[in-house]
Amino acid sequence: MTQDELKALVAQAALAYVVPGTVVGVGTGSTVDHFIDALASMKDRIVGAVSSSDRSTERLRARGINVVDASSVERLAVYIDGADEIDHDGNMIKGGGAALTREKIVADLANDFICIADASKLVPVLGKFPLPVEVIPMAATQLARRFQRIGGQPTLRDGVVTDNGCHILDVRGLQITDPLASEIEINQWPGVVTVGIFARHRASVCLLGTSEGVKTMR
Ligand code: A5P
Repeated sequence: MTQDELKALVAQAALAYVVPGTVVGVGTGSTVDHFIDALASMKDRIVGAVSSSDRSTERLRARGINVVDASSVERLAVYIDGADEIDHDGNMIKGGGAALTREKIVADLANDFICIADASKLVPVLGKFPLPVEVIPMAATQLARRFQRIGGQPTLRDGVVTDNGCHILDVRGLQITDPLASEIEINQWPGVVTVGIFARHRASVCLLGTSEGVKTMR
C-alpha cells in the first residue's frame, strides 16, 4: 500500500470514533483531508465540525459539512487529527502544515484526541522531525538564538505566514526525551505563540496505518 492509501485507511477507521449527534473537532493535513472526505458520508448524523484551519474549513464546506465556530462549543467528544511524529505514549510533534496553534486550541476542547497517521510517524523519541514553533515575527531571531543555545538548529519557514499572521521556526537536532517538560518550558519563552509538542494534549487513541491494516494504540 502507498503512504496515501494508508492515510485513507486510518481516516476511514476514524469514523468509528465520531459520536453521532455531536460536533466533531477536525484537524489539518493530508490525512485529515481523507478524513473529511469520509466524514461526508455521515454529515447528516452529526451537528457539524469545528475546524482547525482555513484549509480544512474550505474542504469541510465543499463536502457539505456544517462548520461551527469554536467559541460556540463548550466541549467536543473527539478531536481527530494527524501528526508528524508520535511516540508510544501518544505524545506528538505537529505543525508540519503550520496549523499547530488552532489545532491545539481545538484539541483543548475535546475529551479525546484521536490521532490518525501512517505507521512511518511512530518513533521511539520525538525530534527527528524538525519541531515547528509558531512565533511572533518580532521575536523570531531572538528565539532562534535561544534554540541554538539548547542545541537546536532553527530555520525560519520560508514565505510562510500562519492563519494567525505569525511565522514558523523549524528546529532540527532536538531529542525530546521529556515532551511534557519541553512543551511547558518552550511555551513560556516570550514571543512563542505555540510549540508543536502535543504532550498536554496527547493522543488518547492512535490509529496507525500499516500494510497489515489499522493498528490501534491506546
Ligand atoms: C498540520 O499543522 C499538522 O499538525 C498535521 O496534522 C501534520 O503535519 C500531519 O500532516 P499529514 O497528515 O499531512 O501527514
